Amino acid sequence: MVVCKCNEEKWIEHYSSSHKILLVGEGNFSFAVCLAKAFGTAENMIATSFDSKEVLTNAYPNVIMANLEELKQRRCTVLHHVDAHTMYRHPQLRSKLFDRIVFNFPHAGFIGWETEKRQIEIHRTLVRGFLSNANHMLTKNGEVHITHKTAYPFSKWEIVELAEEIGLCLVEKVPFERWYYPGYMNKRGSGAKINRTFRVGECSTFKFAHNIFFYNNLIDDLCNAGKLTIAREMFSSLPMKGLQPNVRTYNIMISGFCKEGLLNEARELFEKMNKNSYSPDHFTYNIIIQGFLQHNETSWAVKYFQMMVDKGFYANVTTNTIWTNLFSAKKVDKTFTIIYSKVYVKAF
Ligand SMILES: C[S@@+](CC[C@H](N)C(=O)[O-])C[C@H]1O[C@@H](n2cnc3c(N)ncnc32)[C@H](O)[C@@H]1O
Repeated sequence: MVVCKCNEEKWIEHYSSSHKILLVGEGNFSFAVCLAKAFGTAENMIATSFDSKEVLTNAYPNVIMANLEELKQRRCTVLHHVDAHTMYRHPQLRSKLFDRIVFNFPHAGFIGWETEKRQIEIHRTLVRGFLSNANHMLTKNGEVHITHKTAYPFSKWEIVELAEEIGLCLVEKVPFERWYYPGYMNKRGSGAKINRTFRVGECSTFKFAHNIFFYNNLIDDLCNAGKLTIAREMFSSLPMKGLQPNVRTYNIMISGFCKEGLLNEARELFEKMNKNSYSPDHFTYNIIIQGFLQHNETSWAVKYFQMMVDKGFYANVTTNTIWTNLFSAKKVDKTFTIIYSKVYVKAF
């Protein structure tokens, strides 16, 4: 039997033919060609350069036309004049999301020595601009990759810290060798020696992904939209992404469970929090108390209330309103009314 391999997924290093890939700051497009050849067809890729086609033709006279033709044959979209600082708003990119956004050896050009502070700062500005644009263009499991020299003075760019400021976290840092990508020829990309390659030396590919704050918002939106199953899956998948849920993540999930009346799940997660050494905060207590009260589980609400008081936290306005309504309807035990009134007086 002949098996058609046309749709078979193909990989080269971190990149798959099933990824939507955006290449930023290409030099002579040899990296794009390498990926395109590995995949067979490159419909999944958009390869971009900062410079215009005219500049590239002058800079890389021997290879650029052949590389662009190769990419065209393989149906790769090629865009010129794409600035990493504004690419998010580029007319042909703004509505698109990518699984991999890649910038190999970002470099903002030369205004001095690589060791000079002002030179380092212009590189950092470029990387910051790139990361903050890329952050808006990632699919939820997407990654931004930067291949970068790691020895001094390049270590001074502190790209991991830049990513963290933007809301991306380092997933992995893996060694980079040029021969991983047959045909790729890294270029200086600017100045009089634009067409010169450079020794890559000590360098790595840094992989960044959305951090826990991004996922908190996403899980919260899913819970609010009633998509609890997807929210729960996302919550469970966080460790696989190298992310630890924080107290807010737990609070969002507990609130989601309570809203849907899944009180056992809410209780289990509350207990898991303690086991995983994430102490519930006053939001957690108020969320779970309200959840149990709203579903008429007053005795459990009372237990959580007592725990909250012992920890030195207070009921918030919503919790108090629900309690007051229950008192009026005489649905709460008398002993508890005493505890509650003491805390109420202390808090207000
Ligand atoms: C050291 S070269 C690397 C080129 C190519 N990525 C490679 O690996 O051969 C740096 C590249 O960054 C590009 N670049 C500089 N400023 C940029 C910007 N604002 N947006 C996008 N690319 C930029 C330059 O055009 C140049 O091609």
